[in-house]
Amino acid sequence: MTPIKKVIYKKNVTLKPIWLMRQAGRYLPEFRKIRKKNLNFIKLCLNPQKVKEITLQPIVRYNFDAAIIFSDILMVPYGLGQSIEFVKNFGPQLGSINLENIKNCRLEDFKKKLNPVYRSIYQVKKSNLIKNKDLIGFIGGPWTVLVYMLNRTSPKRRLKKILSDKPLIIDLLQYINKYLEAHIHYQIKNGADIIQIFDSWAGLVKEKNLEEFIYNPTKKIVKTTQTFKTPCICFPRNIKNYKDYVNFIKPNVINIDYNVNPESIVNNINIPVQGGMDPRILLSNKKKVEKFTNYYLSIFKNHPYIFNLGHGVLPQTSPSMIQYLLKLVRKFNERSSKN
Ligand code: CP3
Repeated sequence: MTPIKKVIYKKNVTLKPIWLMRQAGRYLPEFRKIRKKNLNFIKLCLNPQKVKEITLQPIVRYNFDAAIIFSDILMVPYGLGQSIEFVKNFGPQLGSINLENIKNCRLEDFKKKLNPVYRSIYQVKKSNLIKNKDLIGFIGGPWTVLVYMLNRTSPKRRLKKILSDKPLIIDLLQYINKYLEAHIHYQIKNGADIIQIFDSWAGLVKEKNLEEFIYNPTKKIVKTTQTFKTPCICFPRNIKNYKDYVNFIKPNVINIDYNVNPESIVNNINIPVQGGMDPRILLSNKKKVEKFTNYYLSIFKNHPYIFNLGHGVLPQTSPSMIQYLLKLVRKFNERSSKN
């Protein structure tokens, strides 16, 4: 069994495996080199040879316990025919949404458009570099994908009024769910060992809408993933009540963000936990990194825990600080295996 699966299935509570969200990304010089020659981000995500190389870059450099497929949560709107561009220093910009096209989209056409993603997963899975490691596939949470589709850019930039149209949201979520489930199924069929659901904008939803906008659609997706005998990690960033979320949705693992107090999590949640540390800590100094890494490791010492961050690695992070972080986590593991 892989180290991460041992944690998920509670076979070993002292072992603390590690991987990082955005471990393949702009902080890595070897990624930037490829990116400079591939200006179209979507096209890059549809190039299996390059995707394989990028996915394995952090494994080669750091030997993390898992690889996450290099792709994006916005590949699903792309598969549904919405145009997308990643504008430099701005972020994603989506074209207008045609509801009829989405409702009438054939699963076969969706699958065909995203087939290079599935071929990439198949190719990465064959690599010896990830023997005894997990390959993580992922989707955006239904709510977060809907936010990008309707808002057409990051909510950090602006928040359109359309996001208060409740009947439209509930109608659209049903269609999005169908394709998210299909996307998960094809990723698993081609070799994804674990699925992570990134609900980056879960924190925008008001309490009174949580059940309809987040809980119900996400629960359905988690259940479907579990019927494929594949564990599901949920990351509902900035959600107010992690305990209610876990009790309702029942994922295999909950990834916490950096605003939540890890002590309240360890005391109130009894499923495996992942992540938590603020990625900005990695921009400071070794002393601070050591203090916070040991803080998270000691809090979750006797709880099934996968080391990760409370959001993705920031582009300004020094690759040597990541190396240092790995050294600390590995040292902790060595010490606890001797005791
Ligand atoms: O984690 C990994 O290493 C796997 C690959 C991955 C990417 N995006 C690659 C990427 C994953 C898991 C994602 C998820 C994703 N994408 C999320 C959820 C997690 C989160 O960050 O909240 C979201 C909201 C997106 C949408 C997205 N993609 C945005 C808003 C942006 C632009 C802002 C940014 O961070 O650059 C992207 C682009 C993107 N996705 C990059 C990478 C490596 C940067 C591309 C570049 O300019 O080189």
